Amino acid sequence: MSSSSEKRILVLASGRGSNFGALAQAIADGTLKGCRITGLLCNKKDAPALAVAAHWKIPATVVESRGRLRTEYETQLLSEMKKHRPDLICLAGYMRLLGPEVITEFEGRMVNIHPSLLPKFAGLHPQRQALDAGAKESGCTVHWVTQEMDAGPIIDQERVPVLPGDTVESLSDRILEAEHRTYVRAVGKIISK
Ligand code: GRF
Repeated sequence: MSSSSEKRILVLASGRGSNFGALAQAIADGTLKGCRITGLLCNKKDAPALAVAAHWKIPATVVESRGRLRTEYETQLLSEMKKHRPDLICLAGYMRLLGPEVITEFEGRMVNIHPSLLPKFAGLHPQRQALDAGAKESGCTVHWVTQEMDAGPIIDQERVPVLPGDTVESLSDRILEAEHRTYVRAVGKIISK
């Protein structure tokens, strides 16, 4: 049953949506209490994350980013984000850099998950970076979003071994399992404060 004291979580995703699904699942099975996901904002109209939203009966809105001026896109995105009156925004595979205006508006209320042990392997293709560096371990990080990419204060991390013969795919799959646990733990920490 929903109540007005529940924390309102808004999720932004661009792709598969498995982290979004992990959060929805944790709320549904009672692992995460005292919160609900009010909506999904997605910047791609064909993203599988939209089917995840439909499965969990979570309202989804597409704010298409492709082929639009950044300022126009971000103005619409900001307006859609505000409508949710979010206590917490979870970036879950949201593959666009957010502009300073959006980050300022929600600073201290927005978190991201990144598939490496930050500050190691920030930026694009962190699993590939870990393999190229010959790392013996990698993992994932949930952190607060600040103006500097992948550099905000860390909320939670989980380590994952890099195994002999790992490919980008096998390492990504192992890290993804850890991501789902870590995102749920991190959101639990935040909302219990
Ligand atoms: C995850 O690896 C996440 O850390 C990264 O993008 C991927 C999204 O996966 N930012 P999914 O859409 O949550 O399945």
